[in-house]
Amino acid sequence: MSNYHIKHLEEYFQVYRKSVRDPENFWEEVAEEHFVWRKKWDKVLEWDFSKPEIKWFQGAQLNITENCIDRHLRIRGEKTAILFEPNDPNEEAENITYKDLHGRVCRMANVLSEKGIKKGDRVVIYLPMIPELAVSVLACARIGAIHSVVFAGFSSTALSTRINDCGAKMVITSDGSYRGKKTIDLKGIVDEALNDCPDVETVLVAKRIDSKIDMKAGRDEWLAPLLEGAYGDFPPEVMDAEDPLFILYTSGSTGKPKGMLHTTGGYMIYTAYTFKNVFQYRENDIYWCTADIGWITGHSYIIYGPLANGATTVMFEGVPSYPDFGRFWEIVQKHKITQFYTAPTAIRALAKENLDFIKKYDLSSLKVLGTVGEPINEEAWHWYNDHVGEKQCPIVDTWWQTETGGILISPVPFSTPTKPTYATLPLPGVQPALMDEKGAEIKGNPADGRLCIKYPWPSMARSIWGNHQRYKDTYFSAFENKYFTGDGALRDEVGYYRITGRVDDVIIVSGHNLGTAPIEDAINEHPAVAESAIVGFPHDIKGNALYGYVTLKETGESRDRDNLRKEINQVITEHIGPIAKLDKIQFTSGLPKTRSGKIMRRILRKIASKDTGNLGDTSTLLNPEVVEEIMEEAL
Ligand code: WT7
Repeated sequence: MSNYHIKHLEEYFQVYRKSVRDPENFWEEVAEEHFVWRKKWDKVLEWDFSKPEIKWFQGAQLNITENCIDRHLRIRGEKTAILFEPNDPNEEAENITYKDLHGRVCRMANVLSEKGIKKGDRVVIYLPMIPELAVSVLACARIGAIHSVVFAGFSSTALSTRINDCGAKMVITSDGSYRGKKTIDLKGIVDEALNDCPDVETVLVAKRIDSKIDMKAGRDEWLAPLLEGAYGDFPPEVMDAEDPLFILYTSGSTGKPKGMLHTTGGYMIYTAYTFKNVFQYRENDIYWCTADIGWITGHSYIIYGPLANGATTVMFEGVPSYPDFGRFWEIVQKHKITQFYTAPTAIRALAKENLDFIKKYDLSSLKVLGTVGEPINEEAWHWYNDHVGEKQCPIVDTWWQTETGGILISPVPFSTPTKPTYATLPLPGVQPALMDEKGAEIKGNPADGRLCIKYPWPSMARSIWGNHQRYKDTYFSAFENKYFTGDGALRDEVGYYRITGRVDDVIIVSGHNLGTAPIEDAINEHPAVAESAIVGFPHDIKGNALYGYVTLKETGESRDRDNLRKEINQVITEHIGPIAKLDKIQFTSGLPKTRSGKIMRRILRKIASKDTGNLGDTSTLLNPEVVEEIMEEAL
């Protein structure tokens, strides 16, 4: 059906118009034709952004793993579902067929069930990129437990906060992980986190690096022997379309991380539909997304979207620089990758290296290239296009968010003409709007405003776990009757969108979404620190890097500044993780504040970016003299 697989620009426009004219009918047709439902829906959509309440396919029943695994068994049982490429290129890659995956997921589901996990329970998964991660995610979905994957680069404090917020009683982890030449003691981090998590009853431990770890009696168990003894079939739990599928945490501009709650039916059809179209996936393609499953990109476009289409999806455990900067390209050649999906920060890092790393390999299998996570700058776009795609592969610059569940704005390759730095056009069913500061929609082109979405799409988050009010305040209160993304965007003459970046206090560093407030809260825990403010500044590889302005307590004044810098980054690493470390730390005698006591970040941002020609209005400052000092001593 052409609705499901768009093949040229005219068709895109036809499908798009149809999807906007009657979204319910559009999504109903997609849902009817391509999925296994235990029971069909009574109503396609019910929504009210003022509450906010969004319900897709009410009354329908299904299990997402039946769609991602079981229904492929008959015709694709021997096809590779997950192709695991280990950290060490000398270790053999592993082909996990759909049949194998079925057995592994069922055995894991039996283990979880024997450990008392039931429908609706929360299970935190803190694993590296090894097959057990995908298997655990799918096993939770099979029994109806809500998975919450925590990226295995997060610190013990970040982990315990998430475990407690979602009330998990089980954690699945491993003895450790490989990261290039290094190993990381994941189990040690879990042990530390669990000192603060009284409700966790069970920890299941996968063996990966064979290190010596402590196993706490009565709580910790090795996974392998349990799996060996488990039965290889497990009837999928029948779920309602709106039953929760997972919680995934994302940073907010203030306060603790937000547990975005995604549900089952709408998420499934949207990730499947967008995977097929955005990557123009065809049977026998070998698709590789380099993201970690700890992020939404991995949930939607390593696991659910590809598997719902019966695709072969690659899971890579390692890093782009190990054993050298040619690793990505070596893997593309080795597995004849057809679609390659990565982040601009990775492209920028690889573009800095010698071209020989890429010229050594045959990349002719590639058909479509993708990027995600942050705006891609022109230079990186061209490098990707020239050297990776050899000008033969359309680049899909895909814009979306943890909250949106799936890609919302992106070219459809071979249909939408691409334009560097533009995510281009909304996918079918997506109705964007640009808003001015007064809250009115800007009609006509070109336009520049705040990016909102006017109509529900099936994979949007339904709530923030345990805090529906915060969901409403964050996304549905800035503009009436619209979902506000937090991003600014331009729309050119032909209607192409270019995302310009966050308009709130979220900073995207190497594609990771970081809130300023949690980092400031962490720094302020240091005994010598009185106050701090974090801003982003442009960085060659990371896109943005973090600049901290720190004022010290009197007791800190006599301390060695370089030692303090190290300690501050140490505190951040402990509270959040190394990804939130500051590139620059400037000590100042005060922070510029308004009369109401609010830190004027606008000024600090300009100073950090060395853009001090016009600082804007400083007349409302309580302490204008401090701006002079900060400028003189800027790093
Ligand atoms: C924020 C969401 C979507 C999965 C990874 C990030 C930025 C994302 C693009 C893009 C420009 C982008 C936005 C967005 N972003 N993709 N193609 N062009 N900006 O998910 O951690 O929830 O971050 O990433 O600012 O709001 P996330």
